[in-house]
Amino acid sequence: MEFIKYETDGAVGTITISREKALNALNSQVLEELDQTLDNVDLDVIRCLILTGAGDKSFVAGADIGEMSTLTKAEGEAFGKKGNDVFRKLETFPIPVIAAVNGFALGGGCEISMSCDIRICSDNAVFGQPEVGLGITPGFGGTQRLARLVGQGMAKQLIYTARNIKADEAYRIGLVNAVYPQEELLPATQKMAAGIAMNAPIAVRNCKKAINEGLQVDMDQAIVIEEKLFGDCFETEDQKAGMGNFLEKDKEKKLKHVPFQNK
Ligand code: CAA
Repeated sequence: MEFIKYETDGAVGTITISREKALNALNSQVLEELDQTLDNVDLDVIRCLILTGAGDKSFVAGADIGEMSTLTKAEGEAFGKKGNDVFRKLETFPIPVIAAVNGFALGGGCEISMSCDIRICSDNAVFGQPEVGLGITPGFGGTQRLARLVGQGMAKQLIYTARNIKADEAYRIGLVNAVYPQEELLPATQKMAAGIAMNAPIAVRNCKKAINEGLQVDMDQAIVIEEKLFGDCFETEDQKAGMGNFLEKDKEKKLKHVPFQNK
């Protein structure tokens, strides 16, 4: 792979978009490599993914403007689909994905972070959907996910004005969960990912599914989705071990994390 680096540490995988000369902008090749990387994640071992950008300046500075500049209407739509397909794969990926936003997250960069389950960022991060200044709409899900994350009014304001916001404002409007000094961002993300990876993997996966799928339907249907996924956890090794541990009289054992099996 030329533009994607994939490393693992125990049950945590880290995907780094690595096209530093273009501030990690997403061209077709980056999107294709990201798609392949996701397909190759070993889900029997990896329980949480981190997505970040190479360097200390940019997470992802958007879709590649050079590549987009000469597209026809049909090609523009196809390029949008190419990005959307990969971002949707990320959003519905069976295990949690944390975006460690280490700088510019503009256009497609903001959009890819919003396809992740959790966003945390460095204090030099800048978020925005600058597309209307380029004569286009956000095209990798920005009109949909930003409105769902920060509410319609704020999303419309940010998208119509094309105004970039800094980390503190992104935190205030709920676009990111936490802001760290640059050098603390990856260690903090790794700690969060390792904490997630220690929990029962079937239960964590089912939580992701329940939240994602439940938010697409009305509350009556959403509750049924939750009931099925809740029920699905029973009789698993993890449920037996997790509850058995709690019921142990031995306090030491009670507080000890069980080595969950993913079974
Ligand atoms: N596409 C292609 N190349 C990009 C890029 C992008 N989105 N963003 C940055 N680059 C390239 C620059 O062209 C430059 O390359 P050269 O050195 O070869 O000239 C290199 O990265 C460094 O960029 P700058 O010199 O501009 O760096 P800067 O520090 O002065 O500015 C910046 C940084 C404010 C992020 C600026 O680069 C910028 O505004 N980038 C574009 C951001 C943007 O508009 N993103 C949205 C794209 S549209 C989109 O994403 C549509 C969609 O929804 C699918």
